Amino acid sequence: MIGIASGKGGTGKTTVAVNLALALQEKGFRVMLFDADLGLANAPILLGTRCPFNISHVLSGEKTLSDIVVTTPQKLRLISGASGNQALAGLMTLEVTRLVQAFSDLHEDLDYLIVDTAAGIAPSVLALMAACHRRFIVMRNDPLSIADAYGTVKVLLEDLHMDQIYLIPNAVKNKRVGEELFQRINRVCAQHLTHTIDYVASIELDDSIQDANSHLQPLMMFAPSSQGAKDFRLLAQAVTELPAVDHLSGGVQFFARRWLTPHRLRELH
Ligand SMILES: Nc1ncnc2c1ncn2[C@@H]1O[C@H](COP(=O)(O)OP(=O)(O)OP(=O)(O)O)[C@@H](O)[C@H]1O
Ligand SMILES: [Mg+2]
Repeated sequence: MIGIASGKGGTGKTTVAVNLALALQEKGFRVMLFDADLGLANAPILLGTRCPFNISHVLSGEKTLSDIVVTTPQKLRLISGASGNQALAGLMTLEVTRLVQAFSDLHEDLDYLIVDTAAGIAPSVLALMAACHRRFIVMRNDPLSIADAYGTVKVLLEDLHMDQIYLIPNAVKNKRVGEELFQRINRVCAQHLTHTIDYVASIELDDSIQDANSHLQPLMMFAPSSQGAKDFRLLAQAVTELPAVDHLSGGVQFFARRWLTPHRLRELH
């Protein structure tokens, strides 16, 4: 369960969520994408698909979560937030908790759940991050994005005591710039915060990402041999190589009931 956040808007969360999901699927994993940008969902647009029902129908009681899951043309399983729904954008922690618990009723065989969230650190975004095993912060190499990524890390680490926080520098000139950006932020974390964070991979600036968007196709399908697509494959590979998460955060988590099988409980003790 991987939650994707950023602090500042427009850093590339949805691009990363969609293409990471597709790159993991390309490796043979079963992946579900939860577009949890609840008020302004746009993953369906990037995937060139439409979701007749969304999270707003689940919260109103008209539909169950399994009623609203769609299979995209790329064969991803997708759950969508609503677009242009202010009530959903301002969802409170308790409602997010209900939503996260509803996932336990889904009978899907999944290897990865990727959760794309809205920009900022609204209570709903933080609750979604807490419900995941790992948290990826997508950032750009510009002062505002750096400040907001650090601010987000600080809240996750210090106020909410979350671990498994990783940085993904996006739209960088090259991988070295991305790694240096991570090192810079991590040094500040080491000096001023209780813990350090981790690095997964960087995504380079690639104009084919914009081209793919305007063709309403995800990059992995639109330009599979582009630099961006290669970077998303490297990111997916790095994700599969991350050490297993062997503990829960203690709060409400996606698929908690399924994850805590008697077998795993025995493993953990
Ligand atoms: N590596 C990249 N190279 C070039 N353009 C990129 C890259 N990553 C993202 N973009 C572009 O940046 C813009 C914002 O991307 P995206 O919608 O994924 O950001 P977001 O963080 O989800 O935004 P929001 O905060 O509004 O949800 C898009 O036009 C996208 O095509
Ligand atoms: Mg987005």
